[in-house]
Amino acid sequence: MSQHVLITGTGRPYALGFNLVKRYLEHGDTVFASVRRPSEALEEMKKAYPDRLHILTMDIASTDSVNAAAREAERLTDHLDLIVNNATTASADTMKELPDFDLDLIAPAVNVGAVGPIRVLKAFLPLLRKSAVGALVVNISSEAGSIGKCYRTFYLDYGTEKAALNMLTMTLRNYFRNDPNLNIICLHPGWMRTNPGNTEAPLDPYEHAETLRLLFETKRHDKDGPVFITYSGEAYPW
Ligand SMILES: NC(=O)c1ccc[n+]([C@@H]2O[C@H](COP(=O)([O-])OP(=O)(O)OC[C@H]3O[C@@H](n4cnc5c(N)ncnc54)[C@H](OP(=O)(O)O)[C@@H]3O)[C@@H](O)[C@H]2O)c1
Repeated sequence: MSQHVLITGTGRPYALGFNLVKRYLEHGDTVFASVRRPSEALEEMKKAYPDRLHILTMDIASTDSVNAAAREAERLTDHLDLIVNNATTASADTMKELPDFDLDLIAPAVNVGAVGPIRVLKAFLPLLRKSAVGALVVNISSEAGSIGKCYRTFYLDYGTEKAALNMLTMTLRNYFRNDPNLNIICLHPGWMRTNPGNTEAPLDPYEHAETLRLLFETKRHDKDGPVFITYSGEAYPW
């Protein structure tokens, strides 16, 4: 099955979003890859897939920007089968603890990391509704968003935005419960080498993108299984 996929936060060649774009293109799908600023690496990829890669400019912190990107997508396609909400942020204080953390940085992070994906879902919903195969929305979360497993004394912004994203995912899962044509999950993708300075993480983003691509297909119509899952498809504690 060839599908139409939207992936956010795709401009960095070493990170997950870019590698998901690559995997879906290699698989024969049509990809709408969003960035908030031009990406040379993505422009280079477009040369190899001029007809199936569409680059959208979208700042998920801005409703106007997301709505404009959705209008642009509507000029290019009549449907979407999958959204991977991959884009996220963390503030400069993310590794700091309470005394040193500027608390005013939390709300902007939540605006990007939690509200952003739902802005995208809302704006692109008319295209999702036209999927012939049943649309899936995947919100890339993190173990850092698990309240039950929380052990850190830092990540005041990042942990909060991912926990909020999990709550929004479950609330919308309930909202779409009786809709056979739309499903939504959130995922802890595992620890990946998505930062050039990080050689410790076990997962290579290009290899891992294929694991995730295959996993997502098992969740498209799964209304009864776990909603917050690991990259192996197992339930992760909320
Ligand atoms: N890496 C890991 O080990 C790990 C572990 C657990 C969960 N995750 C999650 O997996 C996903 C991918 O991780 P990653 O490490 O590949 O991410 P990343 O390198 O931090 O990339 C995040 C992307 O989001 C984009 N972005 C930030 N703010 C944005 C905004 N306002 N509007 C639109 N795009 C925005 C960035 O764009 P710019 O390039 O323009 O800055 C970047 O392309 C994230 O959701 C992350 O939280 C990652």
